[in-house]
Amino acid sequence: MKEFSQFIRSRRSIRDFKPDPIQRELLEAVLEDAKWSPSWSNTHPYFLAIAEGEKLTAIKNELLELFDIAYPAVVGSKWKKFKLFFTRPGWPDGDYRTYFKYPARLQKFRIATGKALYDFLKIERGDAKAKELQWRKNYEFFNAPCVVFVFVHGKMREYSILDAGIYLQSFMLAAEAHGLGTCAQGTLATWAGPIRKHFEIPEDYKLIVGVSVGYKSDAAINTFNAGRRDLDLSF
Ligand SMILES: Cc1cc2nc3c(=O)[nH]c(=O)nc-3n(C[C@H](O)[C@H](O)[C@H](O)COP(=O)(O)O)c2cc1C
Repeated sequence: MKEFSQFIRSRRSIRDFKPDPIQRELLEAVLEDAKWSPSWSNTHPYFLAIAEGEKLTAIKNELLELFDIAYPAVVGSKWKKFKLFFTRPGWPDGDYRTYFKYPARLQKFRIATGKALYDFLKIERGDAKAKELQWRKNYEFFNAPCVVFVFVHGKMREYSILDAGIYLQSFMLAAEAHGLGTCAQGTLATWAGPIRKHFEIPEDYKLIVGVSVGYKSDAAINTFNAGRRDLDLSF
């Protein structure tokens, strides 16, 4: 019991990977463990598109191109957003919106987590360029040699997303147990086009999240601990 408590607390989001590829048997062992996640009617209503090697490099380059076009509009004026909407390349084609206004009750936690990360990285509040480069690293997959893009069945109401969330935690813990690091990245669902182009995704499946996977580097960022606020609950 104590070991489990320590183990679940020890996983961190990894934001700097060694480039070393993951052996196929090791990745399969992680996937086999995570397969034991429960799901509604045992359907496992998700599809995993696993990108490595040349396929991953191609997806990375395409996503970076889109990010570089879109970023000035994301942080810029309404006019820039308007222009992006009408000129299209760069406009998010994902199945779910990844940039949206947080509800007031939760926004303060988002700000606190972002600030803690930037403080850790010594990025000053007004340093827009450093913030852009840090965000851009998401689309470089933090140098990971493998990314698992998770699609959910769009006709299972909200439950496929719930099941995928359960799977995600199992996958990240299984990877940790097998000596690998992970970073779940909602921002990797902003554009689905480059991923669909490189995989045959079955009909009705929607991209919800990407997970970078690989060996953890010794970079300080990997020791960043976002901590946990108390749960919202009532007895
Ligand atoms: C669904 C989901 C989406 C996330 N998206 C991102 C992301 O786009 N970029 C990123 O750097 N971290 C992302 N994270 C990582 C969270 O910021 C991180 O889990 C949280 O701050 C807690 O830190 P920890 O994972 O180190 O415990 C995501 C996590 C989850 C579960």
